[in-house]
Amino acid sequence: MPALWLLLFVGCAHCIRVHYDNTTVSSNAKQLYDFKAKYSTPIGLWTTSAGKPAEIRDTVSINSDLFSNPLHLDLTMHFDAERIPERVIYAKGTGAHGHFIVTNDVSKYTKADLFNGVGKKTPLFVRFSQGLQSLGGSDLARGLKGMAVKFYTKDGNFDIIGVQTPVYLYRDPLYFGSLVRSFKKNPKTNLIDVTSRWDFLTMVPSSLHGYLWTQSDYGVPDGYRKMDIFPVHTYELNNKHGDRYYVRFNFRTEQGLANLTSAQAAELAGRDPDYYTRDLYNAIERKDYPSWQLEMDVMSLHDIKSIDYDPFDLTRQWKRGTYRTIQIGRLVLTENPINHFRVVEHSAFNPGNLVPGIPGPVDYVFKARRLFYQHSQSHRLGINFNNIEVNEPIHALTYNRDGPPPLGKNMMDAPNYYPNSFNGPIPYVDESQPSEKLLLLQSNAIDLEPHSDFYNNVLKTEDERQRMVDNIAGSLLSVTSPVLQRVINFMHLIDPDLGKRVTLAFEIARAAARQLTAPSVKN
Ligand code: HEM
Ligand SMILES: *[C@@H]1O[C@H](CO)[C@@H](O)[C@H](O)[C@H]1NC(C)=O
Ligand SMILES: *[C@@H]1O[C@H](CO)[C@@H](O)[C@H](O)[C@H]1NC(C)=O
Repeated sequence: MPALWLLLFVGCAHCIRVHYDNTTVSSNAKQLYDFKAKYSTPIGLWTTSAGKPAEIRDTVSINSDLFSNPLHLDLTMHFDAERIPERVIYAKGTGAHGHFIVTNDVSKYTKADLFNGVGKKTPLFVRFSQGLQSLGGSDLARGLKGMAVKFYTKDGNFDIIGVQTPVYLYRDPLYFGSLVRSFKKNPKTNLIDVTSRWDFLTMVPSSLHGYLWTQSDYGVPDGYRKMDIFPVHTYELNNKHGDRYYVRFNFRTEQGLANLTSAQAAELAGRDPDYYTRDLYNAIERKDYPSWQLEMDVMSLHDIKSIDYDPFDLTRQWKRGTYRTIQIGRLVLTENPINHFRVVEHSAFNPGNLVPGIPGPVDYVFKARRLFYQHSQSHRLGINFNNIEVNEPIHALTYNRDGPPPLGKNMMDAPNYYPNSFNGPIPYVDESQPSEKLLLLQSNAIDLEPHSDFYNNVLKTEDERQRMVDNIAGSLLSVTSPVLQRVINFMHLIDPDLGKRVTLAFEIARAAARQLTAPSVKN
């Protein structure tokens, strides 16, 4: 036993982190020993996937006829074919199981069952993710971090998906793929191209607001546990009388906000690109359960008609003083998935999965999301992805049939067409569903007021402003005019002080870079 512990300490020496309990070995490093502690003998006979027990001579294939060895064929052919597509965005992630507890009576605003009844507990699954990182990428890249929550309610799954910034990058969903393309790799060079990023940002200036958030301290939280999460959209809610309210949900971390500077992030990225994943896993294993308060900013139908800005615009925050904030409850994560691929990779969230009492957002980005998540997931997981355990609602009766596995029960012998007079599933009547729908017309005019509010009021100190300026200046090093000039112009338009500071920081960074590369540049 002493030898074993020594081995563990040596093996893990490099993975001990400032935030971990450095006097004990991290839980993640002990996983295999935990398994062995649970099962004192082998868990059974090894078989092929068709169940044929492995004979010991089949476990060696040299000097044998490989193709008559079913074990070898089964093993390698499965490995050859085991990749599925990664998510088109937010591909790198991790997840955990937990629950939600209602702490406040919000029946005045919504009749949603999961939010009604103080003390009501709803099981849920959460997936955290990195906006622009591919599956093998880094947790420490500056940018959007995601948190997707699937509540398993008695009225079906309620999925809500957010990011660590309270604004998103565009209000026109047509830009979805283009924005992602401009930030990911250039198709010719196969390298990140900062020029395409800045070109897009300055062609669609609404996106500069969200981008400023990610270039500030909010851009690299110190792990998934230390960030607030915003679903961003304005959701319509209704109570049991059919009265409508408009809300923005916020998940506030109970671990406290904390962030890493670009230098800290770069250093950690080299040592441990899975830093966020490790931090979350080990916190849950040591029963230091991460939690968030769920609150909502509320306006009535009357309020939203009498304000001087578009409350449905994803690229701006609600103006201070125009809404009130109401607590709803508490989300707690208590259990790591038993198998990452089975649970986390197979999870499929859809912001269009809503429940009675939450008719949902009315903006155009949301309308697009209702369709495109499902489309992407049926490509990634097959059309029956809601039959995969992590996505299965508590209860479902459908007229869907067949298709690729997993089929589930395929509705057995029930009628497979609607309408029918043979007692197949029937619809219900929601008496309190609002009879009117808001028709939203949004403006595409350029408005830099939210950007300047972020710079002057959300960022509180000169140090915070300077850190953001330095991050922006650093990312401009390989950008040339006219794109460079356009960026500088926009920085001036947002705020003359921001313009001046970015120009100066850029010149300093460029001079430093020149000095660094001056002698013997070989490219
Ligand atoms: C036109 C707008 C949008 C479109 C078309 C879109 C589309 C998608 C698609 C196709 C996926 C992959 C789904 C999967 O494979 O399971 C995804 C994932 C994701 N999106 Fe969006 N998205 C949009 C806007 C947004 C917004 C506004 C937010 C933040 C509030 C957001 C946050 C996320 C997150 C966090 C994930 C990862 C979900 C997970 O963990 O599985 N997206 N999006
Ligand atoms: C653990 O880390 C703290 C803070 O860095 C340090 O003061 C302490 O000596 C460390 N303990 C051990 C056993 O390494
Ligand atoms: C980021 O960290 C700095 C330094 O600890 C702190 O002053 C600042 O309030 C933090 N900001 C956020 C958004 O977490």
